[in-house]
Amino acid sequence: MSLTVQNLTRRFGQTEVLRGIDLEVKSGELVALLGPSGSGKTTLLKIIAGLDWPDAGRLVVGGEDWLDKKAQERRTGFVFQHYALFPHMKVRDNIAFGLTVMDRAHRPAPATIAKKVEELLHFLQIPHLADRYPAELSGGQRQRVALGRALAIDPAVLLLDEPFGALDAQVRRDLRRWLREVHDKAGTTTIFVTHDQEEAFELADRVVVMGAGLIEQIGSADQIYDHPASPFVARFLGLTVEIPVTMRAGRAEAAGLDTSALPRRAMADGPATLFLRPADITLLPSPEGAFRVTEIATTGALLRLRMEGPADCQAEAELPRRAAPALSLGQTVTLRPEVGHIFPGSPTPAQPAPAPAPVSLIKESSR
Ligand SMILES: Nc1ncnc2c1ncn2[C@@H]1O[C@H](COP(=O)(O)OP(=O)(O)OP(=O)(O)O)[C@@H](O)[C@H]1O
Ligand SMILES: [Mg+2]
Repeated sequence: MSLTVQNLTRRFGQTEVLRGIDLEVKSGELVALLGPSGSGKTTLLKIIAGLDWPDAGRLVVGGEDWLDKKAQERRTGFVFQHYALFPHMKVRDNIAFGLTVMDRAHRPAPATIAKKVEELLHFLQIPHLADRYPAELSGGQRQRVALGRALAIDPAVLLLDEPFGALDAQVRRDLRRWLREVHDKAGTTTIFVTHDQEEAFELADRVVVMGAGLIEQIGSADQIYDHPASPFVARFLGLTVEIPVTMRAGRAEAAGLDTSALPRRAMADGPATLFLRPADITLLPSPEGAFRVTEIATTGALLRLRMEGPADCQAEAELPRRAAPALSLGQTVTLRPEVGHIFPGSPTPAQPAPAPAPVSLIKESSR
């Protein structure tokens, strides 16, 4: 079913945790909510599930106003990061749970429930686990069962809150692919929360980047990666090097910077900030270079360098160790960005320092 969120706000005391969220999810779409810790992702999911309520805004699913409905009436499937399965129930009973507790009018007959569970076990590729208890499963297997439990009720919307967050990287990658297959076959409208960019990009039809209670950008993985809409999105996507530049005739200029590889921008002349990924910077050793290497570390395959430039500008570069030019501490270099994004304005807006009270005034008032 399609889902529409309109101007949703939620406040806890003085803190505005959701500050006007607008979101449309198409029927059968898999959307990833990507954002740093505390940006409001779980709060938004809870409101959709009916486990929390907004201060204002609308939530419409399949044409129905869901804010009028209790959690039990909404038919959402929810999987949490550490979703505790019922420890005293076998896998098959855990999956059947949502069906067995339905009110009498909707509850399927026991034989129908058993058949449904059997189908799900096969669909999720876990029939061999059916008679185990949760304690006898790996973390990845538990999350598959948790998804089975969420899917058993044929949810209108499937809500997944960092379901693979506690698992190691390889298992996460396997489960990601498995989930995408399951989603494509089941066709359930799905919202997947993560703070892992790679996970969001690989899994989702569209990615919604959230920051501090607001949606910063919505788009396909490529759109967001290639065209971050704001400095916030740029930083979040790993463009962590920020260099103050001056725009002149569409080119970014700064001491120690060779921007010849960057295309011209249709931007007004004036101060701007160049955002770069450490891996997108080529270092050109040069006696006249305005950046000085202050730190060199190796991760094995990569060399990570820190540099200091004019006006305390810090930069970081990452290059394959084998391809790295012979660099040493204290050496001066010119930075050549291969790809970058430019936003108008200075990197950290200069905070006007509080003007000290004139001495004469202090003397006068203390009299
Ligand atoms: N019941 C509550 N009472 C007070 N503040 C809350 C409550 N629930 C959440 N918050 C606050 O709301 C903000 C958003 O929390 P939320 O759990 O939605 O973030 P999140 O994006 O899911 O973060 P994470 O990635 O860490 O799970 C946080 O600052 C949190 O402290
Ligand atoms: Mg959360």
